[in-house]
Amino acid sequence: MKLNRIMVFTVVLVLLLGLGGLAAAQEEAPSGDLEIFSWWTGGGEEAGLNALIARFKELYPEVNVINAAVAGGSGVNARAVLTTRMLAGDPPDTFQVHAGEELNALWVAAGLMEPLNDIYEANGWMDQFPDGLLDLITDEAGNIYVVPVNIHRSNVLWYVPANLEEWGVTVPTSWQEFVDVTCPALLAKDVTPISIGENWTQVHLWESVALGVLGVEAYNGLWDGSTVWTSPEVVSTFEMLGKVMDCANDDMNALSWQDASQRVAEGSAAFNVMGDWAAGYFLVDLGLEPNVGFGWAAAPGTDGVFMMLSDSFGLPLGAKNPTAVRAWLSFLGTAEAQDLFNPVKGSLPANTTADIGNPELYNAYFQSAYEDWTTNEIVGSLAHGLVAPPAFSNTFAGIIAGFQGDRDAASAAANAAVAALQTGMMR
Ligand code: GAL
Repeated sequence: MKLNRIMVFTVVLVLLLGLGGLAAAQEEAPSGDLEIFSWWTGGGEEAGLNALIARFKELYPEVNVINAAVAGGSGVNARAVLTTRMLAGDPPDTFQVHAGEELNALWVAAGLMEPLNDIYEANGWMDQFPDGLLDLITDEAGNIYVVPVNIHRSNVLWYVPANLEEWGVTVPTSWQEFVDVTCPALLAKDVTPISIGENWTQVHLWESVALGVLGVEAYNGLWDGSTVWTSPEVVSTFEMLGKVMDCANDDMNALSWQDASQRVAEGSAAFNVMGDWAAGYFLVDLGLEPNVGFGWAAAPGTDGVFMMLSDSFGLPLGAKNPTAVRAWLSFLGTAEAQDLFNPVKGSLPANTTADIGNPELYNAYFQSAYEDWTTNEIVGSLAHGLVAPPAFSNTFAGIIAGFQGDRDAASAAANAAVAALQTGMMR
């Protein structure tokens, strides 16, 4: 009897101590290593990440941030490394991923992400992030999986205003005008009409060409099966891409996106289509002024349409330091973090309480992008993970690589149709 009482007392004591320990652990300030995985290494990329990390370190001096960025525009290399690590059960603490199918069809579908609803609720973010963006990162059960740091625009045409004037050309308003009028005029002056970079930038160019040629409804239909890939209209997007490529530099496969942007800034090429991380590159790395050192317009034929993508970070299952990740994610979504990051990254803040109305912080480029973001029709990017599962985008990158060599538009469209079928996009 006596023994029993002692045993019960001991069990209760152990339980109490255990619970106390748990409470203490929950209140503990984040500490230890925090491995942040992204592809933001080069010009136009790392300044934003560095700004975030610097402030985070001030807030959490006990956390040792490990910046595990893997070089390669649009994450071409980083995603391969990430996949290997996730499969090996060795996830980074937190990683960059695009909102939409890149997140959902892969990591969420595989059950490898932790829901973050408590962080959203604690910070009032359900009312601070746009509903359309929340939809892209929420599953059917209502679980939210990542924290977006920005809204980027894909369909932007870049140029230097004074150079166009000198060469006697205007900003083309359709791809047909570009190939029929702008391109020959520039070739006659020995100027490369459009600079293009490595494979993923060619996919990036194709999506702007496709949007310009097809229009919003047919472009959107590519991602739900309502637009037929082998139709003459879709085949013509590849034909047009080929004509645009004929107006470009021959060494495209050897150029990074920064190299291609630089050719415009230095005046050896007239135009380039790139996402607005190019604005970050022009502003921060090249020190250019908006409307002077660089100008911009919607890619030909896409005026009034904003092709969006969003960079976000999440908490993978099995992360070694979830407490530090939660602190990082709770910071990333704040207006403060978004106002540190976006003015140097070239993107718009995803949190609507950020200071976008402040022209001292967000210059003329951002004001114009914000105007478009809030008034244009919105569509999603293929090249940056929003509209199609990675299984499709990876195959499509190979299709564009093949097309660049053989210029067979019908076969590119037919191969894309097969990939769409095989990756479940026709449902
Ligand atoms: C995109 C990413 C941007 C930018 C770009 C070039 O996929 O969303 O933030 O980094 O690649 O690397």
